[in-house]
Amino acid sequence: MKKTFLYLLVTLVLGMAACSPKSGVAVKSTSKSTTTAASFDSEQHRPLFHFTPPAKWMNDPNGMVYFKGEYHLFYQHFPDSTVWGPMHWGHAVSKDLIHWEHLPIALYPDVHGLIFSGSVVVDDKNTSNFGQKGGETPLIALFTYHDMAKEKANAIDVETQGMAYSLDKGRTWTKYADNPIIKNPGIRDFRDPKVMWYEPTKEWIMTLAAANHVEFYGSKNLKNWEKRGEFGKNEGSHGGVWECPDLFPMTVEGTKTEKWVLIQSIGNGAPNGGSGTQYFVGTFDGKTFKNDNTPEVVNWLDYGRDNYAGVTWYGAPNNRRLFLGWMSNWQYATSVPTKTWRSAMTLPRELTLKNTPKGIHLRQKTVKEAEILRGASISNFGGRISDFKTMDTKNVTKEIELSFDLSKTTAQDFGIVLSNTKNEKVLVGYDVLKKQFYIDRTEGGKGGFNKDFAARQYAPRLSQNPIVKMRLWVDVASIELLADDGEVAMTAIYFPNEDLKTTQLFSKNGETLLVKGQLWGLK
Ligand code: FRU
Repeated sequence: MKKTFLYLLVTLVLGMAACSPKSGVAVKSTSKSTTTAASFDSEQHRPLFHFTPPAKWMNDPNGMVYFKGEYHLFYQHFPDSTVWGPMHWGHAVSKDLIHWEHLPIALYPDVHGLIFSGSVVVDDKNTSNFGQKGGETPLIALFTYHDMAKEKANAIDVETQGMAYSLDKGRTWTKYADNPIIKNPGIRDFRDPKVMWYEPTKEWIMTLAAANHVEFYGSKNLKNWEKRGEFGKNEGSHGGVWECPDLFPMTVEGTKTEKWVLIQSIGNGAPNGGSGTQYFVGTFDGKTFKNDNTPEVVNWLDYGRDNYAGVTWYGAPNNRRLFLGWMSNWQYATSVPTKTWRSAMTLPRELTLKNTPKGIHLRQKTVKEAEILRGASISNFGGRISDFKTMDTKNVTKEIELSFDLSKTTAQDFGIVLSNTKNEKVLVGYDVLKKQFYIDRTEGGKGGFNKDFAARQYAPRLSQNPIVKMRLWVDVASIELLADDGEVAMTAIYFPNEDLKTTQLFSKNGETLLVKGQLWGLK
């Protein structure tokens, strides 16, 4: 039972037809979940503090919205298998972004197709007119329908956009009778609507990924949409198809300057291979996005192999911009060695925008709420490291903060290594000559399921500061590295045959000075 402690608050009510029609206009679902509460197990590799589905397949986060004290997390889910298949929207809610309550499946495939990624907004002005007098504010889900029959027939108009609404805080959903709300304009990959309210023109703006660019649509009522503009055909990285965009305004830290950020996942061509997420900083005028950078500049939101399809919560309180991504990579997502479920989400992260000598960049921090996981701490360790220094902890899950002084470093390479008695190890380090952070899972355990999995992955260091900072969140099968106060992020998963219980600091071919270190075992 040790791996179920985070779910004490969890109520499992799966396998119910959550989208049972509440009115005559609902479209009937065509498949039912077979997931049962019993299948929520304590299998090896099951993360202890990262979100995972109770069972079976999960990919992208969807419909992230904050409403009446609850953070909603929907997700791409196939309840009948641990590999990708007919997509549903799984559902969970949280009051603190850390403890999640699993809810019944929210959206099932229907006659228009499978339910691919999308978003949810709070229609507080009842622009959709789905709200009833004196009743609950409507939540509106906008998602992509993917028609398998058309795909098989090699048709182009496979993907259209659909809509559903909920009048009970997201517990049950009714599909709109006139779906699809946006027909396919002749673009094979046409998906993942992310919707927001745009005050200057008092309309909803939908950002849609359309193969090699994004398209912006506008609507007064969330039902009738018109194309306003597009962006990106020749901008940023095009190593793969564009997917899962997100567009939002942010104020540059310490200024009054407002910028627009466009997050854009791509299915292939990420810096360390496979799928990854880039972002653009610029302006948005209600019709189109203008990039502040020249077209060839690519900003990567996370350099690790395992942070994909992430987007931000709509309507988070206190103007926070909260992000969460899927902790996997399409290169191997369907073959990772877990048996009863597949994949986890990153920790929720708070994004800020910061002026740097290299332009305006996103910074990310794991949300402060995650600090409630902190248990016993080993504080303020430090000093010279010339080889290996074993830490006094056997905790597998931990948060670690390290600051090294480059001006007192002769080593080529330093960092932290997690290992077990089978000599399996995962390293997180800084390569002084290359000026790059890295995560190395070459000898991290199981890797034979994919030829590209076991490798060292790199991220460039952007900061010039002689103090190199690493903040790490270590779960049983993943590391999130947020370096230099969140300027560089790297996320990687791994599958040791035995828990990595030994934690050591290391310095290779010379010395380094650890100015400050702190480690918390996580509860
Ligand atoms: C991204 C993605 C989306 C799509 C979904 C299907 O991982 O390919 O573009 O909507 O997954 O599950």
